[in-house]
Amino acid sequence: MLSQKLQDAINIQISHEMNASYLYLSMAAYCDSLNLSGFANWLRVQSEEERMHAMKFFDFLHDRDGRVFLQSIAQPPAEFETVMDVFEQTLEHERKVTSWINELYALAVAEQDYPTQVLLQWFINEQVEEEKNATLILEQLNLVGAEGVGLFMIDRELAGRSLQGDPQSASEA
Ligand SMILES: [Fe+2]
Ligand SMILES: [Fe+2]
Repeated sequence: MLSQKLQDAINIQISHEMNASYLYLSMAAYCDSLNLSGFANWLRVQSEEERMHAMKFFDFLHDRDGRVFLQSIAQPPAEFETVMDVFEQTLEHERKVTSWINELYALAVAEQDYPTQVLLQWFINEQVEEEKNATLILEQLNLVGAEGVGLFMIDRELAGRSLQGDPQSASEA
């Protein structure tokens, strides 16, 4: 059975994932306001992925006979300096999430909860991907430029991202 401590910590992580989802959705809205529909698409998919992360923990709590207690979601910032700023904040946010996942893992080890450790191993791998993806986009912006033709090219590339594991968007792609 899941310990109270772990249940509380997983509930907090659910709110972190929902907050991340809301932050990326706000970033998508900002990019849409600049008519950068490719960036907006990438961030929208990112937002959906974060919601799926929250649901992974949600389902896990129920599988373990625990209870989900949803918390409030903070209002995300609406304005950003530039697209570069958006991805700098994305990378910074993902690093923060990585440290929360690591703390959760340390707690699961301390509580000798093996199923939670197995679940968190998926998240540990996912965080490597998350940081890699944000870094890649930042490097591309640095390489070809965060304005003009360079920005246009990256925008077109990011328009191609679709939600993985979602058969509907896979068939549309
Ligand atoms: Fe996440
Ligand atoms: Fe993430």
